Amino acid sequence: MFDERIVASFDDKETPFYYYDLKLLNQTLKECRSAAEGHKFHIHFALKANFNQKVLAAVKANGFGADCVSGGEVKKAVEVGFDKKQIVFAGVGKSDAEINFALDNDIFAFNVESVQELEVIDQLATAKNKKASVAIRINPNVDAHTHHYITTGLDENKFGINSWDLPLVYDTLKSCRNLEFLGIHFHVGSQILDLNVFKSLCIKVNEMQQWFEERGMPVKVLNVGGGLGVDYQNPDENAIPDFKSYFQIFADFLNIKPHQEVHFELGRALVAQCSSLISKVLYIKNGIKKNFVIIDAGMTELMRPALYQAYHKIENVSRMVEGKGFKAEGELNLIPHTSYLSYDVVGPICESSDCFGKGVEMPETKRGDLIALRTAGAYGEVMASAYNLRPAIKHVYSEE
Ligand code: LLP
Repeated sequence: MFDERIVASFDDKETPFYYYDLKLLNQTLKECRSAAEGHKFHIHFALKANFNQKVLAAVKANGFGADCVSGGEVKKAVEVGFDKKQIVFAGVGKSDAEINFALDNDIFAFNVESVQELEVIDQLATAKNKKASVAIRINPNVDAHTHHYITTGLDENKFGINSWDLPLVYDTLKSCRNLEFLGIHFHVGSQILDLNVFKSLCIKVNEMQQWFEERGMPVKVLNVGGGLGVDYQNPDENAIPDFKSYFQIFADFLNIKPHQEVHFELGRALVAQCSSLISKVLYIKNGIKKNFVIIDAGMTELMRPALYQAYHKIENVSRMVEGKGFKAEGELNLIPHTSYLSYDVVGPICESSDCFGKGVEMPETKRGDLIALRTAGAYGEVMASAYNLRPAIKHVYSEE
């Protein structure tokens, strides 16, 4: 992602900032789209992963729809110009105001997460004399084998409707006149690298669609959610996820009828690799047991390590030379630098969890060096906070 020219262009920029490689973003979107097109799959981008204006513009330009989880996200998707018939609204706690906003904008569908929510959407739609299209989010009780904070498809999770409530869903759909049953929706979790998890999901989806169709309710849309993971360890080698193999699983194992559409809600896989958080070294502190590199970005700018013990590759880009490793202080030639030291890389926030990596091997690092926290394009800047009265996060973009 970085060469000397790019790193030199950071010199006059105020840190920390998110650097977006728009070329990589567009390549990723194009690969995903062409892999999906072969199967006629529809993709909605999960705005929760990243709602940066330029990112959304690229996502929209590449023909993706929008998967939203709040009124704010629906509003954003409408403002950016996503086709309203390609906007879905999910989330376990939609407020009346949010539902009304979505109804006013005639979005494609609500992914509904409880029986009570179905009744509320029906009431609000009736008051507007409108019909709301709904997909039922079913909790498939499939283990995503990912971090427990980002597992969503188990019985113990708050998401979706459990299978034992389906008879009640059926009765409610039959009695609510302003609801139109569109299909079924699933999402088992995030950062899933074991494609077998998606096979298990397909088996559940097949069972569930049969349940509805046997009761005379045609399932027009099979929405299988998102969750495809990325390679945080090797961001350069695996910059673009293997979309082909991912979609092939669904083509092979989903029982897709001629009248059905298959929808996906990808977030991370589309945007994670295209951004790095760039930060400057403020201080080097030599402890008794270890050396600390204190950088000017903290958990306020990238919360994932503090919240999920998530790994983000850390690079000292000031000492990095394209394809050749690192150069030592003062060297003009591009000579690989061999002396690596071990550092704990920490931020300035008053919390011990404000740590990006322990025992990180880097060439000898100095005050003023630029540090890149890689693969930060998904759930990075969108989860930033103002804790410690930190200023709003800044951005730098590559050429497209
Ligand atoms: N659909 C639903 C219903 C979801 O809940 C999510 C993510 C997605 C789609 C998109 O999933 P993706 O393709 O990005 O895996 N903040 C956490 C991740 C939370 C994911 C929440 N739901 C993290 O930083 O790892």
